[in-house]
Amino acid sequence: APVFHRSENGALMIEDLGLDELAQEHGTPLFVYSQAAIESALSAWQRGLAGRDALVCYAVKANSSQAILSLLAQAGCGFDIVSGGELARALAAGAEPEKIVFSGVGKTRREMQAALEAGIGCFNVESEAELLALNDVAAACGLTAPVSIRVNPDVDARTHPYISTGLRDNKFGIAHDHALAACQLAASLPGLRVAGIGCHIGSQITEAAPYLDALERVLDLLEAIEAAGVPLGQIDLGGGLGIAYADETPPAADALCQLLLARLDARGHGQRRLIVEPGRALVGNAGVCLTEVLYLKPGEDKSFCIVDAAMNDVPRPALYEAFHRIEPLQAAAEGAPGRVYDVVGPVCESGDWLGRRRLLAVQPGDRLAVFSAGAYCMSMASNYNSRPRAAEVLVSGDMARVIRQRETIEDLLRGELP
Ligand code: LLP
Repeated sequence: APVFHRSENGALMIEDLGLDELAQEHGTPLFVYSQAAIESALSAWQRGLAGRDALVCYAVKANSSQAILSLLAQAGCGFDIVSGGELARALAAGAEPEKIVFSGVGKTRREMQAALEAGIGCFNVESEAELLALNDVAAACGLTAPVSIRVNPDVDARTHPYISTGLRDNKFGIAHDHALAACQLAASLPGLRVAGIGCHIGSQITEAAPYLDALERVLDLLEAIEAAGVPLGQIDLGGGLGIAYADETPPAADALCQLLLARLDARGHGQRRLIVEPGRALVGNAGVCLTEVLYLKPGEDKSFCIVDAAMNDVPRPALYEAFHRIEPLQAAAEGAPGRVYDVVGPVCESGDWLGRRRLLAVQPGDRLAVFSAGAYCMSMASNYNSRPRAAEVLVSGDMARVIRQRETIEDLLRGELP
């Protein structure tokens, strides 16, 4: 059976467990994840890359909960981190340091030092200034930093402007025209070892074409840079593969990998080490956020279904006007009258909605699942309106365990001074 399915009496299930029972036991809002869904998403990438010198580095920012990182680490996954905090999380979860890559435009010297001392596999460097800083830090520690130059291939990933990162005018990557100079600089610095080149073109990409375009451009650059005398080694194609929130049809990870490898082979680069950094594609559709209906507010023009989860728990609708499927945990009786609602949270902002114009047959006290909540929800959750953050549960078969306790009021006040 699919990970999320309905029992014969209409109860929404995750693997072998009823979500309504989990919500009753642990309270709402509650994030519930399927271990099988995460493992099968990872194995699609591993299958697509099988037999190659390749590494899947999970982008920790998508969901950085310890239990999820450790199950991925145990399945052989590496990690793409963007901060000292994510470095600490990955190491605590049992990551092999050499399988960690460190991305981001604003690494501090302190973060660089921690990552160097941990012995990470590679720094994905995004500017010449960062190369110089990293060289200093490495020299001061008596270590050599492996670096990969992240270039901006200037391709359009055709996704939301806030999550598109491979176009010329955004802050990410080294401009195409500066890449050779950056590589020559890196090669000349004694604290650095040039390990490769890479890119990341955006997120929630639902077609293979932008990846293939980016790969062609990165290979053109790589060939030019190597011809100019700087051997480059590995290629990192970043993350960004999308998932189905509604009716999107992104390529399957294994199919995408096959296309990329075929292109690498065709251009004579099939022997190079390949790194990918998926985040959302590994965890996004493995989790739901469960929430309880507090009040119904029917109106002439608009009706509101007010629930106990909000933009601080599931921030993507407020931030990107993102669509998340919403369904009752217990299917309504045949013929029950429904109404079209905006599903909103208790936060004092008009932007605090989880879904718009949803047909639902619900009563106060009923519970709903917000789907596709495994990525960029808990990791982006906040305490806005002084709302304690939700609990998280990981399910495997008919077993469920709490992997993050619900925050308490004491947690909220911790560290504050009068
Ligand atoms: N590698 C790098 C360098 C990245 O910047 C990102 C995501 C990834 C990998 C992973 O991308 P993914 O495979 O998850 O698409 N908060 C937004 C998404 C921001 C993505 C930022 N970078 C959202 O909720 O849609």
